[in-house]
Amino acid sequence: MSSPAGFQAAKPVLAIEGLTVSFDGFKAVNDLNLYVDRNEVHVVIGPNGAGKTTVLDLICGKTKSTTGSIEFDGRELTKMREYDIVRAGVGRKFQNPSIYENLTVFENLEMSYPKGRKVFGALFFKRTAEVVARVEEVAGEIFLSELLDKQADLLSHGQKQWLEIGMLLMQDPALLMLDEPVAGMSVSERVQTAELLNRISKGRSVLVIEHDMEFVKSIAHRVTVLHQGKVLAEGSMEAVQTNPKVIEVYLGH
Ligand SMILES: Nc1ncnc2c1ncn2[C@@H]1O[C@H](COP(=O)(O)OP(=O)(O)OP(=O)(O)O)[C@@H](O)[C@H]1O
Ligand SMILES: [Mg+2]
Repeated sequence: MSSPAGFQAAKPVLAIEGLTVSFDGFKAVNDLNLYVDRNEVHVVIGPNGAGKTTVLDLICGKTKSTTGSIEFDGRELTKMREYDIVRAGVGRKFQNPSIYENLTVFENLEMSYPKGRKVFGALFFKRTAEVVARVEEVAGEIFLSELLDKQADLLSHGQKQWLEIGMLLMQDPALLMLDEPVAGMSVSERVQTAELLNRISKGRSVLVIEHDMEFVKSIAHRVTVLHQGKVLAEGSMEAVQTNPKVIEVYLGH
């Protein structure tokens, strides 16, 4: 494509091309192309079984693709191990929060700091000013500043979801992926989560799967509709919402 002299469209941080995965001959993701830009909040919607979660599994290396490529920040992820993908800057939140229930909010965040406790082992670990400062900064971002000493199992469902987002933020990922982050949240928690995502998307990319259209509307820069492992439609929330094909297979139900 031609462009004005000297101008180059910014390269997407994540480029998925021709991605397919077959489970016993069933193509859960079928020749998918999907691009996420820097600083973009990109939301994937679509009916149950469309392949949304499988796409996140493929990006984070939990599931290996049959064919296709996933390029993240210039690196091919399909050949990398899960651990190395995390280290490359991809953070992924599963649907159920995986936090340490018997540790405090502070300790949960501290454990997630790349230069934190795990490096030296608990015995020799010294709580450095650097770790404390980062924990406090992240706690502020996830509305938990006042609850740093609270044991995690005493948090509300929504607060647990925020804590897990915070644990990912401790690693400062360039790409943050969230699978149905507001499922089970109260209305006010959903509004706060939208505010949170709008805030933390500055300087990083966020890929979100959600069914709650009010929430999607309040966060999405771009929406991709997935159906039977393929892209059915893509564009702004307004464009997607009024697309007859999307209404037929998803929004009309
Ligand atoms: N590891 C697997 N082995 C076999 N089949 C799988 C596997 N993972 C996913 N599938 C199948 O792939 C299809 C897509 O599943 P996926 O979980 O990605 O859907 P989804 O779009 O996230 O749906 P939902 O909105 O219900 O969460 C489903 O038919 C599912 O049963
Ligand atoms: Mg899913």
